[in-house]
Parts: sequence; C-alpha cells; structure tokens
Amino acid sequence: MNKLTLSALIAALALAAAPTYAADVAAGKKIAEGGCADCHGEKGEGDDENPKLAGMAVDKFTKAMTDYQSGARNKDAKMAKAAKKLSAADVANVAAYYATLK
Ligand code: HEC
Repeated sequence: MNKLTLSALIAALALAAAPTYAADVAAGKKIAEGGCADCHGEKGEGDDENPKLAGMAVDKFTKAMTDYQSGARNKDAKMAKAAKKLSAADVANVAAYYATLK
C-alpha cells in the first residue's frame, strides 16, 4: 500500500468514527411543537421566563441539552425533565430545527 492510499484510508476511517447523526430538521420540528413550544414559543422566540431558542448555534444548544440531561444544569426542573425525554438523535434533530429559525 502506498502512502497516499494509506492516508486516504485513515481519513475515511476518521470520518466513519465521528458520530454522524444526519440531523433531521422535520423530525426536530415535530419534537419542538410537541414538547418545547408551550414554553419557548411557537417559533422559539421565547419570552420573559423562557429563553429564545431560535437561531441558537447547534453546539451551544446541544451542550445545554446534555447539561440538563446529566444534571450539570438544573435551574429549571421542568426544562430538565423535558430534556431527559430526548435521545441523542432527538437532541441533534431539535437543535438543527431551532438553528434554522430566526
Ligand atoms: C416547562 C417549560 C419548558 C419546556 C416544556 C421546555 N423548556 Fe427549555 N427552558 C425552559 C426554561 C425556563 C429555561 C431556562 C432555564 C435555565 O436557565 O437553565 C430553558 C432553557 C432551555 C435551553 C437553554 C437555552 C440557553 O440559552 O442556554 C434550551 C436549549 C432549551 N431550553 C431547549 C428546550 C427543548 C429542546 C425543549 C423541548 C424538548 C424544551 N426546552 C422544553 C423552559 C422549558
């Protein structure tokens, strides 16, 4: 195997190893409308008590959700409860959905 083939193979393996959820915005929208919109607003606009989610960066959103799930963030019990209902794929999808809003 020559060097070029080997590095191509390593690159392919690295890609395959990365957790790749093909985020599904439509599925995320469903979750948002079913379990998040009551507090965060129909378009994720938020209000005095509930933060705005529309346009939030996916990495920041995902970190917030995993912090609620782990208990690292626990300021709001209802929010923590809502987060704990979601799988990692659900979080990826709902994060992708809110990132598409403004
Ligand atoms: C009962 C009301 C309620 C529901 C339902 C709810 N949230 Fe929240 N959410 C809150 C409140 C209140 C906060 C702020 C609490 C805090 O500062 O930790 C929050 C914070 C967040 C944050 C962090 C925002 C930031 O700026 O750091 C994210 C992300 C989030 N919610 C996503 C969701 C998603 C996704 C759902 C649906 C699965 C959901 N929330 C359902 C009330 C709710």
